[in-house]
Amino acid sequence: MTIPHVRICIVGFGSIARTHACALAALPVVRDLPFRPLLAAIVSDRPAAVARDAAALGVPVLTLAEALADPELTAFDVTTRNAQHLAQAGAVLRAGRPLYVEKPIGRTPAEAAELAQLAAASPAPTHVGLVMRYHPAVIEARALLRVGGIGEVRQVRFGLFHGSYLDPARPISWRLQAAEAGGGAMLDLGLHVVDLVCFLLGEPELLAARHATFVPRRPDGLGGTREVDVDDWAWAELRVPGGAHVTVEASRIAFGAEGAPFELYGTEGSLVANLERVAPLRFTRFDGAEATWRKRAGADPEAHAVAALLPPSRLTLGSFVDSHLASLHHFVLRVAGIDPVPGWAPTPHDAAIAEALVAAIAPISG
Ligand SMILES: NC(=O)c1ccc[n+]([C@@H]2O[C@H](COP(=O)([O-])OP(=O)(O)OC[C@H]3O[C@@H](n4cnc5c(N)ncnc54)[C@H](O)[C@@H]3O)[C@@H](O)[C@H]2O)c1
Repeated sequence: MTIPHVRICIVGFGSIARTHACALAALPVVRDLPFRPLLAAIVSDRPAAVARDAAALGVPVLTLAEALADPELTAFDVTTRNAQHLAQAGAVLRAGRPLYVEKPIGRTPAEAAELAQLAAASPAPTHVGLVMRYHPAVIEARALLRVGGIGEVRQVRFGLFHGSYLDPARPISWRLQAAEAGGGAMLDLGLHVVDLVCFLLGEPELLAARHATFVPRRPDGLGGTREVDVDDWAWAELRVPGGAHVTVEASRIAFGAEGAPFELYGTEGSLVANLERVAPLRFTRFDGAEATWRKRAGADPEAHAVAALLPPSRLTLGSFVDSHLASLHHFVLRVAGIDPVPGWAPTPHDAAIAEALVAAIAPISG
């Protein structure tokens, strides 16, 4: 029996590309697929920097133009820095080829809108790495919200806390420069939770926002220092169409408290999880009838279809890789013409909406 290949070309090979490569390698082992996803080429304009990885994976290093000219490459996965996304993902879209692109899709709302417009005109599937949509707690929460499991939603708190930039001696990086990254903690991390607000509760109105840069200069690695012109922390209060008040918060200085609080409080109960862990959703009802409502939500075919994109619980690769695996799984199914759950995939249009909100929460000055 031969299984057709979906041959994927990965553009850039840094940290997140390794997560994608692990997920793609594990995918045919953890789930039955009607095809085999195969990492088939790396695109880089610095071939020497990726030569070792390419040799280890047994794939060629190409330029983007060479890769786009190769009809054997089925789909493109853009994992470079934010500043490259519009040009590289834009080239894939203009060529009418399937595109997976890491978030954020642009450094500014204008770049994101331009990419979303190109995606809308492309005949091929497009998919953004807003992977928190594939966390098991989010899947179950969405099903419970759809059946009214916590009644009317009143108060919500979503966040993403990392501690990686607490140390002021940590040198400057592209992530700390607006020209390269477009934004700081709120764009890099908060975008995931702002997307969840839109996805689960509807497009919100921005009521209030604050942001701060606690370490304004960092070593440049050349004996001097360089200005940090993006936020280390940002917070916002939003109101969603149903009237619920939502706070979103993102931090890169929350050392020792890394995690992703996901909390929804309603008139009849609450849904609570930490999206940085493989941990079940805590569902509590005032009347103690959780089992009845879980059963009702469990009948949701959409929730079943999305859960089947994740590895089975005994084959978990950890919350981070699992979410990327499910998102890439969904993408390659869509590339093969199968969408088990239409409307779930994060699109460039969704990303552009979330990125415009992020830019209003933590604007870049200058
Ligand atoms: N969805 C998520 O959960 C998630 C998590 C981490 C990172 N990301 C996103 O992934 C992207 C990359 O982040 P990272 O952590 O891997 O950064 P990184 O700095 O580790 O990797 C970026 C890679 O792009 C390469 N590169 C730079 N210019 C290039 C070019 N012109 N052509 C080809 N390659 C080029 C760099 O050499 C590097 O290997 C960012 O947009 C980031 O926001 C998403």
